[in-house]
Amino acid sequence: MLKTHITSNEIRERFLAFFEEKNHQIVKSAPLVLKNDPSLLFTNAGMNQFKDYFLNYQEPTHPRIADTQKCLRVSGKHNDLEDVGMDTYHHTMFEMLGNWSFGDYFKEKAIAYAWELLTKEFDIDEDRLYVTVFEGDEGEQLAKDTEAEGFWKQWIDEDRILEGNKKDNFWEMGDVGPCGPCSEIHIDIRSDEERRKLDGKELVNQDHPLVVELWNLVFMQFNRKADGSLEQLPNQHVDTGMGFERLCMVLQGKTSNYDTDVFQPIITAISELAGIEYKGTMEKTDIAMRVIADHLRAISFSIADGQLPSNTGAGYVIRRILRRAVRYAYSFLNCKEPVIYQLVPSLIAVMGKAFSELKQQQTIIEKVIKEEEKSFLNTLESGLKRLDHLDANITGEQAFELFDTYGFPLDLTKLIAKEKGFSVDEIGFAEEMQKQKDRSRKDAKVETGDWTILQNGSSSFIGYNKLQAESEIVRYRTVQQKGKEVYQLVLAETPFYAESGGQVGDKGKLIIGEQTIAVYDTKKEGELIIHFVNELPDNPSLPVLAQVNAGLRHNIENNHSATHLLHAALRQVLGTHVEQKGSLVAPDKFRFDFSHFSKLTDEELQQVEDIVNEKIQLNITKQEELMSYDQAMQQGAMALFGEKYGDQVRVITFDKDYSSELCGGCHVNSTAEIRLFKILSESATAAGIRRIEAVTGTEAIAYYQHQDKIVKELAGMLRVNKDLVSTIEQLIADNEMLNDEMKQFHQNQVQRIKQQLKEQAIAHENFHFIGEVISIPGSNELKDLCYQLEAEIDNAIIILGAEVNNKPLLSIMIAKELVEEKGLNAGVMIRELAKQIKGGGGGQPFYATAGGSDVSGLKTAVEMGRSLIIG
Ligand code: SER
Repeated sequence: MLKTHITSNEIRERFLAFFEEKNHQIVKSAPLVLKNDPSLLFTNAGMNQFKDYFLNYQEPTHPRIADTQKCLRVSGKHNDLEDVGMDTYHHTMFEMLGNWSFGDYFKEKAIAYAWELLTKEFDIDEDRLYVTVFEGDEGEQLAKDTEAEGFWKQWIDEDRILEGNKKDNFWEMGDVGPCGPCSEIHIDIRSDEERRKLDGKELVNQDHPLVVELWNLVFMQFNRKADGSLEQLPNQHVDTGMGFERLCMVLQGKTSNYDTDVFQPIITAISELAGIEYKGTMEKTDIAMRVIADHLRAISFSIADGQLPSNTGAGYVIRRILRRAVRYAYSFLNCKEPVIYQLVPSLIAVMGKAFSELKQQQTIIEKVIKEEEKSFLNTLESGLKRLDHLDANITGEQAFELFDTYGFPLDLTKLIAKEKGFSVDEIGFAEEMQKQKDRSRKDAKVETGDWTILQNGSSSFIGYNKLQAESEIVRYRTVQQKGKEVYQLVLAETPFYAESGGQVGDKGKLIIGEQTIAVYDTKKEGELIIHFVNELPDNPSLPVLAQVNAGLRHNIENNHSATHLLHAALRQVLGTHVEQKGSLVAPDKFRFDFSHFSKLTDEELQQVEDIVNEKIQLNITKQEELMSYDQAMQQGAMALFGEKYGDQVRVITFDKDYSSELCGGCHVNSTAEIRLFKILSESATAAGIRRIEAVTGTEAIAYYQHQDKIVKELAGMLRVNKDLVSTIEQLIADNEMLNDEMKQFHQNQVQRIKQQLKEQAIAHENFHFIGEVISIPGSNELKDLCYQLEAEIDNAIIILGAEVNNKPLLSIMIAKELVEEKGLNAGVMIRELAKQIKGGGGGQPFYATAGGSDVSGLKTAVEMGRSLIIG
């Protein structure tokens, strides 16, 4: 049955062509990193990007769609991280081939298409296939899916149709959202001999590496609500997902995903770099190569989609995966220098054709991975040593120390502990983590209730050109945030812009009958535009007058348009490798992150600022056009990586030869509205990413006015009208000279005191004792004096008290010989004496210091020291 010559690229193309032929629209994969969906960090299934179609929030672009979707299963409900490398068919990042019907065909056709594709198009032996159907669930009050079973009987022997429980055969995206019963297709690729020995159906869903799930056909019928209940969806849909890498394994006649042409070039590259052969076994070196090959894909695709490693949220997930890969390379492949970034070209050779973002982003992907590798390798060795010493189960505190000090993500510590046969107290770790969080900020847990729906349908944004509109509430809900209740409202139409593309959400008010309700933020969830308010309307059915705060919006527009002008200016001055990597457009300022590999010089910053201000003065009129994505690309408009664009895109242009970008945000009508642009700072945010913070309009003017005021104040203080700079230079020079003189003066003073003290030294037994309250300029001088005295007097014991800046200081110095001989300890002694000055201190046996708050106790402290030493 197996066509071993078929390449992975052909398999992908033939899947899509098959469904195109069946009247499906072929769409691009959505980005791996999700925006506008608080319930997920990453795309974990092909259906994520269509969630709004299932929930009826948005009209589908076509009733039938097919694609290949980049997915990442590393957190939340679907998490395969632990299995990666240990077996041959689980991955963090994988491609999911899928076909969808939105209220169009249902179970019968979905089953028929799947069967035709596998057995006719790809010619897979029918007697290697098994299917499962949902057996029903009493708790959920759901009956067995006899419908699917009936349709399967048309194609496959009855004894190959198996029943599965809710865990395997009822698919849910997350805790909430669309869901439904599913039918899985499993394949048995064992040898004929093995198959004769044991019927494949015994091995379905038993984690056998050669009897694996290939395709999941989900029949979307329900929505899981926040209260746990299921509600019927208005229409019935189909959502299918087939593991691309597994399909390649089957069609290329392999028994491991890693032996296909999807992974082999990467594994070969690792094996060459490490100088270790890949044998495809369960040996540590082979596991390590599989893990690295897998993780490389997850990390590279995430970075290409704009998600850089960081310490929080999605960024931390990427950092965790990367560090896991680094540790495998370090411990099992003996790679002590960064290597993973060197594998990026091999990944691009395999997947670059289907996913052009990899090639386009190659430099930044490599740069970011290399820097991350470097920084983790700095602490990895010491962390591993720390773990080497642990010879028992790892406590929460230890795991937290490894996390906090050595950068070991918990799952890495768990993995290493497991290799040694130990466990990790995860609850203890979570407690430590919580303690740290509590120290830095309040718990921000959010609990969201279910929507109260007044009308079906979603909301549309109508606020590009108007800031006020009459509308009505279509749904609302209550949200618990930091122990407080807040409310969310959705309007049928709204002029409020919901936070997206870096532009913050609008603020304003809703007038409902007699009531005026403040909107303090606006955000998106899928296509829903949600207004955040502190009180609910008394009567949610009344008409609403929605008014955006015009002043804030205007400032936001200034700043948003300025980001476009800045982006173009940066590309002019620095080069076209500059690409936007993030932005925050607020009313008072904005920041713009972009790829570039070195700090900008003052001249470059000035040039950029000048270009933007020149464009502002030219008063360029904004052009706003809707066009197809392909046309926009042909015209050279700039698109952002990791952004999901529909077929129709909005293009904002300020002079077609200067700036043209795909953008859904709010802009000025012409550039002179921005008035003035001023860069406030330029810094690094991550490897290869720079950040500019800037202001425009009133804020920029205020900035210059403030600077002007400072200059005037300084001039007034220095009593000069011009030459402020040279006057200050002179002042600094004078100050330095005075400082030098002062230092000399202090040194002389110390010498004088030293002389006096030496004369007053008391010879006792076999040592010399000095105990005085002295007058000295500072703590450094006091320390210096102790060291000098000790060096110049035989067997010295010195106790000095001094008042420095109105605070008492104590120092004890004991010659090293005496410390050993007499068992004296300055550190212990000073703690006693410090009580007299109402303070504390410590140090080493030969030298210790203390500070306090009661100057009047200095004399007693020194006296006490004297009697301790010489009685
Ligand atoms: N949503 C289903 C899955 O992820 C089918 O696409 O398995």
